Order: sequence, then structure tokens, then C-alpha cells
Amino acid sequence: MRVTKAVIPAAGLGTRVLPASKAVPKEMLPIVDKPAIQYIAEEAVKSGITDILIITNRGKEDIENHFDRSPELEQRLLSSGKDSVHDSLVELSRLANIYFLRQKETRGLGHAVNCARSFIGGEPFAVLYGDDVIIGEDPAIGQLCRAYEEYGKGVVGIKEVPKEAIYSYSSLKVEHLHDNLYNCTDMIEKPATDADVLSLFSILGRCVLPPNIFDILDETKPGAGGEIQLTDAMCTLARSEGIIGVDYTGKRYDMGNKLGVLEATVEVALKHPEVGVGFRKYLERLVENGFNPL
Ligand code: UTP
Repeated sequence: MRVTKAVIPAAGLGTRVLPASKAVPKEMLPIVDKPAIQYIAEEAVKSGITDILIITNRGKEDIENHFDRSPELEQRLLSSGKDSVHDSLVELSRLANIYFLRQKETRGLGHAVNCARSFIGGEPFAVLYGDDVIIGEDPAIGQLCRAYEEYGKGVVGIKEVPKEAIYSYSSLKVEHLHDNLYNCTDMIEKPATDADVLSLFSILGRCVLPPNIFDILDETKPGAGGEIQLTDAMCTLARSEGIIGVDYTGKRYDMGNKLGVLEATVEVALKHPEVGVGFRKYLERLVENGFNPL
């Protein structure tokens, strides 16, 4: 079955990027000239997704405004001859069918996904975490959707993390299937000791879930931080019917932490058609100057 619906949970509090995220949602932090969530919506659309539900909450109205038309601004751009900027804004508002729903209390990623039940109905659906931008030739969620079509099971995007970092991530029990695909039958969230580590593969930023995940989420008790954790529900799914792990290609940037925002900005700026060359020259001069301000 083809996956055409996606959920982007964007209702978190973003405490790790405060104070930037106090009045501006972290999903709206820019990478050069586009907010993080636009890269994510574009990845979904390039992967064949036609309907996107963005989960927001109080204070995240900027996200709705970003995907809306802006007639006054568009008119001003046209009358001042900035046609290409005008066209890019209109194109953005037509990206896909984009819907919004509020998570009324911040009760965790699992709870946010569960809010999408009536939008999704009985279909498999993609989840793109609102603060994880993945940039690559082959859109990451498209790679997961293909794996769903091949196996008809839940699929998680996985990456190996450094040994010293695995204690703050999930750790998956995996067997290699073929190419970059793995069968995953168990997982543990934030392993406490070396003996608990199942592998260095962790779930990062993307998944495709079967509709029975909603019944599992209904039964999932609050876990780490008192929140309903999506990984706890995925663990139940992995143990009962197995899930597929896709070691996706593409570079992931964690917009939920300050270093991730900086890495994304520098790497995307270096490749940017308008500012790339100038930015590279600036960095070269900065290095020559021993990283002292020029
Ligand atoms: P995170 O755990 O990174 O988000 O969730 P957070 O709670 O905002 O982070 P910190 O720890 O306070 O900095 C991953 C994604 O899930 C969304 C977030 O917006 C983010 O895009 N999320 C998280 C929700 O939509 N609802 C929640 O209750 C929690």
C-alpha cells in the first residue's frame, strides 16, 4: 500500500534551544533562508506524500502563517519586479494539502502522534520529527516508504551513533536483511549499562507506522520524563510483529540543539547557490585569521 499521509509533530517545548524558541517555534528556526519545517515538508512532498498534518500548540501560529498565502507581500514583490521570490512563496503555499491540529497538552511525542488518529484513519503513515532536518539526494522518508511497500511492516529510520552517545538514545536489536535494510525485533530506550546496549543503531527522526500503532499508543503508559514516548509504542510493535530499520542516506541535522542548528547553517550555506561562494571565502579568511573576528 502506498503511503500518502504524513504527520509532523511540532508541539514540543524546545527547551534545549531556549531562549530562541521562547516566542519562535524551534521548527521555524532558519537554515540560511528557509525554516527547518519547510525542508521537512519538502522532503515529504518529494517522497510522494500528498497530505501533511502538522501537530502544533499554543504559540506555534508562525508555522501556520508560513504555509499560508500572504497577498500583501506577494503583491509588493510583483510590483517591485521580484517575480522569482514571489513564485517561490506561492509555490510554498501550494506544496501539499497541509492541515494543522493542536496537541492541547505537551504529553510527549507518542501523545502528539496519537492526536492524528482520525486524520490517518486505517492507513499506514509517515512521521517526520519536526526538529530533524535530513538533507540528501534521495529523500529519507521516501526510502522508508519504499521499505514499507516491500515488507508491509512498520519502518524506522536508523543510524549508528557513537558508543559514548548511545546511552542517551534508543538502542536496537537488528539483523541485516539486504542493502541498508535491517530487521528489528527489540529495542531499549536510553540503555543504562553496556550490557543493555543491543547495538549502536538508534531510531533517528523518521518512521512509517501501521495504523494499529494508535491502539498500542492508547495502552502505552507515560515513560521517560513522564511523557508518552513513541519509542515505547514502537518497541511493543517491534517485539510483537517486528519492524524494519532503514539506515537511510542523507545528513541529519538536529534542530533541537544549538550545535545542530549551527552545523546545519554552515553546511547548507556552503552549498547555497546565492551565498555559497561568498560564505566559503569568508570561512577561509576566518580560518587564516585564527578564528578571530575579521
Ligand atoms: P523532542 O523531545 O526533541 O522535543 O521531540 P521537545 O520536547 O521540544 O525537546 P526539548 O527536550 O524540550 O528541547 C521531537 C519532536 O516531537 C515534537 C517536538 O516538537 C519535536 O519536533 N513533540 C514533542 C510534540 O509534538 N509534542 C510533544 O509533546 C513532545
